[in-house]
Amino acid sequence: MKIQTSETRLELGENAAKLAGQYIKDALATKDVANIILATGSSQFETIEALIADKEIDWSKVRMFHLDEYIGMPIEHKASFRKYLTERFLEKVDPLLEVVLIDGENDPEQECNRLGEKIRQFPIDVAFVGIGENGHLAFNDPPADFDNEKPYVVVNLDTQCRMQQLGEGWFNSLEEVPPQAISMSIKQIMKSDKIICSAPDKRKAQAVKDCLTGPVTNLHPASILQEHPSSFFFLDKESAYLL
Ligand code: GLP
Repeated sequence: MKIQTSETRLELGENAAKLAGQYIKDALATKDVANIILATGSSQFETIEALIADKEIDWSKVRMFHLDEYIGMPIEHKASFRKYLTERFLEKVDPLLEVVLIDGENDPEQECNRLGEKIRQFPIDVAFVGIGENGHLAFNDPPADFDNEKPYVVVNLDTQCRMQQLGEGWFNSLEEVPPQAISMSIKQIMKSDKIICSAPDKRKAQAVKDCLTGPVTNLHPASILQEHPSSFFFLDKESAYLL
């Protein structure tokens, strides 16, 4: 587990994208294909923008999965992670080899099975992740399931998680925030060869302290990343101030 603290969010994103971009290019050089997982949420804004700016990446050889999507969420809704990835990433780079989006409007169990069949075929080279204010990893809220072997699972979102989504402005009221989501499981995330975590902002400082310096526990789900051989944390001064 390696930690890099930047002065600003912009610098954090540039540093995260530089390392991740190098790992993507390394995979392309050795396998002529790269399988990645993109994360969503406000923490990823600068990282994704910096990744898009890396003109050395041949996106036509990159297959993309993503971490999570609310159940029942139409792609047109401003909080949809499918919408987020389409508008903030896919529309700004050349066409990818393959894009595997989570359809929140499909039957949840069928969608989990569909996605699971797909991702089992393609070992992940680089996973981008964030950390929730409650320490969640993807939408695996505390107490997270560290043992589920299924690549994607249906999860219940806890109140702190739903309050975070409201606080970030994705919804107009707590009632609007869906109670369930499809999330990549902890075990599946941990299978990724490299994990790049972008975690800026003061609001994440306690979760960063708990998950990076505390014991590995499902009460702080992202703490599991301490056990990953190639996990890299990109913080800013605000999110690192309790370390
Ligand atoms: C979001 C997503 C996660 C993300 C985390 C941090 O809601 N489910 O994939 O990593 O919670 O979100 P943010 O970056 O908005 O703080």
